[in-house]
Amino acid sequence: MNVAVIGPGGREHALTLKIKESEKLEKIFIVPGNPGTSLLGNNINLDTTNHTQLVEFCIENKIDLVVVGPEEPLVNGLANELRKNKINVFGPDKEAAKIESSKSFAKIIMKEAKVQTAKHITFTPNMYEPAREYIRNKKYPCVIKADGLASGKGVFICNESKEAEEALKLIFLDKVFGESGEKVLIEEFLTGEEVSVFAICDGENFICLPAAQDHKRIGDNDTGKNTGGMGAYAPAPIVTPKIFEVIKNGIIYPILQTLKNHEAKFIGCLYAGLIITSEGIKVIEFNCRFGDPETQVVLPVIKGDFLHLLYTAALGKVDKNAVEYNGGSSVCVVASSKGYPDSYKKGYEVTGLNELPTDIVVYHAGTKEDNGKIFTNGGRVLGVTSVLPDFNLMLAKDKAYKALGKINFENIYYRRDIADKAFK
Ligand code: AMP
Ligand code: GLY
Repeated sequence: MNVAVIGPGGREHALTLKIKESEKLEKIFIVPGNPGTSLLGNNINLDTTNHTQLVEFCIENKIDLVVVGPEEPLVNGLANELRKNKINVFGPDKEAAKIESSKSFAKIIMKEAKVQTAKHITFTPNMYEPAREYIRNKKYPCVIKADGLASGKGVFICNESKEAEEALKLIFLDKVFGESGEKVLIEEFLTGEEVSVFAICDGENFICLPAAQDHKRIGDNDTGKNTGGMGAYAPAPIVTPKIFEVIKNGIIYPILQTLKNHEAKFIGCLYAGLIITSEGIKVIEFNCRFGDPETQVVLPVIKGDFLHLLYTAALGKVDKNAVEYNGGSSVCVVASSKGYPDSYKKGYEVTGLNELPTDIVVYHAGTKEDNGKIFTNGGRVLGVTSVLPDFNLMLAKDKAYKALGKINFENIYYRRDIADKAFK
């Protein structure tokens, strides 16, 4: 099979590496890819917003499966366009991707599917004043969210009404998220451990991959701003077999059925961002794609033919026996540029990448290659990941940090406490 992976980051590096294990693979192209993926296949420098060009590329190169990494192309209808042209694609049509691109739509689906989530109320564009009135009488903390896509920046956890006022002003009046902020959700604050679960779906049936835990805040002990994710580990022991059954039967299954009833069959990776509260498991959000950096730790702990899994899902008949947990463990620490998630400098040389042991994988996220050297080129630069054949997250953590000690670039910053929650 010839495969095209769409996307530029660490997640796409991890997807490419896992797909390469398949004996069914002939050629792999990554659009646009990064210096990490260039060692695994052909990076193709095409504009991923130009769907016509991507379709032409797939036809010319006899692509048997397209795997879409990020949410934007899906939300903008890339999968629709590929399917229209009879090209197999792992990733939902835009109608189903709406579960990520509209939080109010996701809430409607959850209500219909009888899936637990934070209590909320939605305010529409002309409702700035009613929203202000509402937050005056609200219990704090509360959470204010822009309805649409905002690269993880559209969520405000407000501890008092002044912060809530500020958030409403930013979204409604300053329009910092543009159209994504036309609607605003105000919801109750939930407490508990968060976990990420990937369901590989064929529209009706699915299998779940081992659960992971992300670390969204920039600072140790979950302090400071929200980011795309500063590190992850898998499997997350908090998700016991009993909890997993509830997630599959009580969350993923009814959501897939409800989406289907809305003419929005979900084919792709349904990412459930969950929180385990004292009142049960509740949904924080759904994404229409694999998580980043969770993918970097989930794929190393599964065995089997991952390409076959994605291909059968794309064809609408997912092979539920294609992969299984391999007994291992994995910890990924994101090495970022100091200043991220706000502004940061780039262009610093990365050293130490060739001195690492074989149980370490370094996924490239924001890097650039020049004359055989690697330079920083983004906020999240590398995902330094340990991969162990057995379940020992403490050792996996230790190995990831030892490897990080060998890697250097100017302004390097990373959290020191990735995976600690697993030891609690
Ligand atoms: P989201 O983009 O909706 O996943 O939100 C980003 C992060 O904000 C989540 O991973 C949580 O850590 C936090 N968050 C979002 N909604 C809530 C909520 N209702 N209660 C507590 N934390 C939340
Ligand atoms: N790591 C969070 C996300 O992929 O949305």
